[in-house]
Amino acid sequence: NGNKVYENIIVSRPAEGVALITLNRPKALNALSSPLFKELNEATEELDKDDSVGALVLTGSDRAFAAGADIKEMKDKTFVDVYQNKFLEDWTKITGLRKPIIAAVSGYALGGGCELALMCDIILASPTAVFGQPEINLGVIPGGGGTQRLIHAIGKSRTMELTLTGRNFTAAEAEAWGVVSRVVPEGEGKVVEEAVKMASVIASKSKVAVQAGKEAVNAAYEMTLAEGLRFERRLFHGLFATQDQKEGMSAFAEKRKPTWNHS
Ligand code: CAA
Repeated sequence: NGNKVYENIIVSRPAEGVALITLNRPKALNALSSPLFKELNEATEELDKDDSVGALVLTGSDRAFAAGADIKEMKDKTFVDVYQNKFLEDWTKITGLRKPIIAAVSGYALGGGCELALMCDIILASPTAVFGQPEINLGVIPGGGGTQRLIHAIGKSRTMELTLTGRNFTAAEAEAWGVVSRVVPEGEGKVVEEAVKMASVIASKSKVAVQAGKEAVNAAYEMTLAEGLRFERRLFHGLFATQDQKEGMSAFAEKRKPTWNHS
């Protein structure tokens, strides 16, 4: 089917404009080893550049989205190993993608697994999803952005509780706290199906407008409100230089469907 074959992930095209990446280390509950992350970065980078792709979905198995960084790989590393090799720094590549990436989470999303989901743009959860930052039980703390990204999603008190007690939280809690956009109805594969549907909707829009929308929303994490509003307005202004803006607004006025040419 033209998709590259990897050892730790599977790349497929479940719908037009949608690429699905399935983490595939079932025996280790998709623990995020370095080789797995290398493949994930390679695949997402390639799909980000692929004009036939409008949105990505990232998922694991029914039992585990990912049970965290690979503890067996990490356990004997020294400070100098992790510091000199900038351990986990390459994880942030996912956040630099231009195209939206939706996490479809079933089962365990613990430690680095929870952090990986938080690096995605949208999270959909199955009712079986179990989130958590259990690193404290290993004598460490989250290292893939958990403390920082959770704060934005759920505030200080809850982030502090989760980080310091290591307790898991349920799909229902994740929904109530706004960590996930919604919990889909129970059923095997249902969360992936819903995420692919959502990705298809996104892929049917103007790619340049989608990229701008993602960039504007993400800017809110880095900027003050005044800076963010200015940034948003400038991106909005910039879209008036695109053919898709002319097409989208003309189509509305002419009561027809727009045909995007993504430029
Ligand atoms: N790393 C390496 N291997 C892992 C793993 C991980 N994070 N999580 C699970 N596995 C392996 C287990 O070692 C086991 O392998 P063997 O069959 O060879 O023994 C296999 O996956 C199945 O796991 P369990 O037998 O433990 O399955 P379970 O159903 O009894 O328990 C679980 C499931 C509660 C998720 C349990 O596996 C668990 O607690 N895993 C670790 C969770 C964790 O601490 N994650 C944080 C990692 S640290 C981190 O992520 C740092 C960071 O911030 C980036």
